[in-house]
Amino acid sequence: MANIILKDIEKIYPNGFKAIHKLNLNINDGEFMVIVGPSGSSKSTILRMIAGLEEITDGKIFIEGKLVNNLLPKDRNIAIVFQNYALYPHMTVYENIAFALKILKVPKNEIDKKVKEVAKKLEIIELLDRKPNEISGGQRQRVALGRAIIRKPHVFLFDEPLSNLDTKLKVSMRVKILELHKELKNENQSSTMIYVTHDQVEAMTMGDRICVLNNGKIMQVDTPLNIYHKPNNKFVAEFIGTPSMNFITGTIKKNEKDFIFEFENNILILNEKLEKKLQNYINKKIILGIRPENI
Ligand SMILES: Nc1ncnc2c1ncn2[C@@H]1O[C@H](COP(=O)(O)OP(=O)(O)OP(=O)(O)O)[C@@H](O)[C@H]1O
Ligand SMILES: [Mg+2]
Repeated sequence: MANIILKDIEKIYPNGFKAIHKLNLNINDGEFMVIVGPSGSSKSTILRMIAGLEEITDGKIFIEGKLVNNLLPKDRNIAIVFQNYALYPHMTVYENIAFALKILKVPKNEIDKKVKEVAKKLEIIELLDRKPNEISGGQRQRVALGRAIIRKPHVFLFDEPLSNLDTKLKVSMRVKILELHKELKNENQSSTMIYVTHDQVEAMTMGDRICVLNNGKIMQVDTPLNIYHKPNNKFVAEFIGTPSMNFITGTIKKNEKDFIFEFENNILILNEKLEKKLQNYINKKIILGIRPENI
């Protein structure tokens, strides 16, 4: 069961900067969890801590029920695809993809079969003999993906793996990653995936659940629909959705007949269904959020 538990995680970088504040997050076995948040919200820091590439200042990380705080990255059964994919420059695409299996001493013919299978899936079969500096950025990113998926580890960590691709390729790669997730599930392989992005479309379309981060704190963890329709706070409401939600400051009023929202010199008659929820806000200043499509 490749579930991941982050318990009271704190991260303070050596320069004293506190990047993560008492973070708690449970990721289920086989789940596709998307982490979104603005630049600098500590998305990569979280992934790096799960992978074992970054020390944890406080708290515990469990993978498959095992405390991994002191486990080396190579012993965590994890594959990572980074924002800045680093391929081995002196090896061909084929050798890059085959590398992990070669280390594991998998027989040559089996490696060959797997490399070709992966290359076909990622549409890079004609590039196998080239070196990384002889292919495009988008192609390199696909090689990096191939190198990660060939081992079929229990946990995949993706850190903005599609950020350098054009829109069309992005869409097709998203589908490929989701297909891979499904395939591994059908093969009864745990394949828990954590996918970091700042692309909302990616978050909304790929995630079983989405974790919204801001300044190293979790704002909300929920399904895409709940994140969109029932945001926990103004940050989530504002961050998710394009064009963004409109916010209007005003006062809740009640007269004999209607339940109203008063702002500047306007009034908006509110649905009486809201009355119960807003009972305690009568005559108080509130911020009303309304999505463009609901106006
Ligand atoms: N080695 C470090 N020392 C000090 N501060 C760091 C270090 N690495 C990252 N930080 C800071 O920690 C915060 C989180 O960084 P992180 O790279 O996790 O953000 P991110 O959410 O992945 O951002 P982006 O979307 O830009 O990739 C940032 O404010 C960053 O400046
Ligand atoms: Mg990052």
